[in-house]
Amino acid sequence: MSKSTSRFFLFSLILLLLLLPFIFTSVSSENEDTDDLEDIEELIALDEQEEEGENYESKDFGKQSEAEVLSKAQRIVLELNSDSTKRAIEENEYVLILGYAPWCSRSAELMPRFAEAANVLKGLGSDILLAKIDAERYPKAASTLGIKGFPTLLLFVNGSSHPYTGGFSSEEMVIWARKKTGAPVIRINSVTEANEFLKHHDMYAVGLFNKFEGPDYEEFINAAKADNEIQFLETSSTEISKVLYPAVLNPTFFGLVKSEPEQYTSLDDGNLTADKILQFLDNNKFPLVTVVTELNSAKVYASSNKLQVHVFAEADDLKKLLEPLQDIAKKFKSKILFAAVDIGEDNLAKPFLTLFGLEDSEETAVVAFDYNSNFKYLLESDPTSSNIEDFCVGLVQGTLSPYYKSQAIPDNKNASILTVVGKTFDDVILSSPKNIILEVHAPWCITCETTSKQVEKLAKHFKGLNDLVFARIDASINEHPKLQVEEYPSLLFFPANDKSNPIKLSTKSSLKELAALINKNLKSREDPLAKDEL
Ligand SMILES: *[C@@H]1O[C@H](CO)[C@@H](O)[C@H](O)[C@H]1NC(C)=O
Ligand SMILES: *[C@@H]1O[C@H](CO)[C@@H](O)[C@H](O)[C@H]1NC(C)=O
Ligand SMILES: *[C@@H]1O[C@H](CO)[C@@H](O)[C@H](O)[C@H]1NC(C)=O
Repeated sequence: MSKSTSRFFLFSLILLLLLLPFIFTSVSSENEDTDDLEDIEELIALDEQEEEGENYESKDFGKQSEAEVLSKAQRIVLELNSDSTKRAIEENEYVLILGYAPWCSRSAELMPRFAEAANVLKGLGSDILLAKIDAERYPKAASTLGIKGFPTLLLFVNGSSHPYTGGFSSEEMVIWARKKTGAPVIRINSVTEANEFLKHHDMYAVGLFNKFEGPDYEEFINAAKADNEIQFLETSSTEISKVLYPAVLNPTFFGLVKSEPEQYTSLDDGNLTADKILQFLDNNKFPLVTVVTELNSAKVYASSNKLQVHVFAEADDLKKLLEPLQDIAKKFKSKILFAAVDIGEDNLAKPFLTLFGLEDSEETAVVAFDYNSNFKYLLESDPTSSNIEDFCVGLVQGTLSPYYKSQAIPDNKNASILTVVGKTFDDVILSSPKNIILEVHAPWCITCETTSKQVEKLAKHFKGLNDLVFARIDASINEHPKLQVEEYPSLLFFPANDKSNPIKLSTKSSLKELAALINKNLKSREDPLAKDEL
């Protein structure tokens, strides 16, 4: 087998070498302008393919048939096997490897886009080699590379592996690959080039610099490399930059352009630093309101934007809310990330609604998160535009009250064990002059029942003691800032004279041990009445 595979490798290598010049000429024969213009036109050609549903139009590739173009694009991806893998990553500075399995549908979806990206990158003169390996057929080689699932993309730089962090359209793969292989920015040299670029791109970042050097410029380049998804453009001409971003003001300028009402955003914050640029992009790259889908949810939730407002509503209501929400979002640009979620999408909505005890509700819910403080907030008035806007003002100013889940206040009349909820935690536990034994449980906790029964027996046993109160709380639906639950069940002793330092009692103790422990704690808290023994 190894002989035949190595022959196969040789064959594909020769084929690749034979094809390379052909591809280069076919891509560049049509334009005699600068390299940069080729870059742009290549990216444009890619766009057109995508718009046409991967219907390759022959004009983009000279006079070849669709089949020829497609097969060429696919053959430009080197197929690795157990023999060739090591050599491929050792002998090439940059190799982007796709690990796939033949039966995996997500691999199958990715493959043609990967091939397109390979084709475009070759056309751009990129040094990167795109290769793929059937990880099921060559499990050993795949595991040496660190491929664990399918599909997996990994970039090898001089033999060492880096995770792929870009998007999964061919254009996004091209942008990412160029960022990580020494071509992070496209230089725009004329108004014509700028207009050409604009015809086919509606999202990009643009930097204007007097000279392509100096600290601001270096930071700009570092940001272009570190960012994973946005194409950076650079120019040294105000005239050109005004085509790309009409409201350029300063001689050194950085702006982001998107395809939506709030198209233009600029970073006007003194000298540029890479961190500032990246934070700025993270705060501004999303649409005014992102409608969360399975595809973009990871990106939205990984955003480093610390303030987020999420609106959950049924599909029809969401449509109506979107425009007013965008109007509000305009006022909080760069400050708040707005996400809208169809309440019917259980996977996307439930995990968040559960945090507010609203998982069974079908009403529109507006919630907010502050990932600096880890507080969450709930809009408790009607979700009108003005209420939502006030809510956002409060979020930005830090004046909202954090939300803690709570059940309705229960009737504890005659109860030997008081039921505590989030809203009554202060009254029943913290402000009470009595010693409290609190049982913390959750409905899904199997071992909680044993502890509950013990607590019932203890409550009976200590019944005569006026200054000792037994209580229990379902902490899965009741929260309080002073209630930190490490495990279920928990048994906490809150001494009358020191409520801020509850003592944890082991739930593994026997009834007798627990009673003794309670007695000991009561005594040590100058309690002369606690003389009872079990
Ligand atoms: C890869 O190795 C070569 C040869 O040692 C070196 O010139 C090049 O800078 C390295 N590339 C990167 C990205 O480190
Ligand atoms: C910006 O950089 C220049 C020189 O690089 C420096 O003189 C100036 O103080 C900096 N300005 C700010 C606001 O950091
Ligand atoms: C509480 O106890 C009293 C007397 O033991 C009884 O009359 C009353 O009905 C009880 N109330 C409830 C709500 O159980």
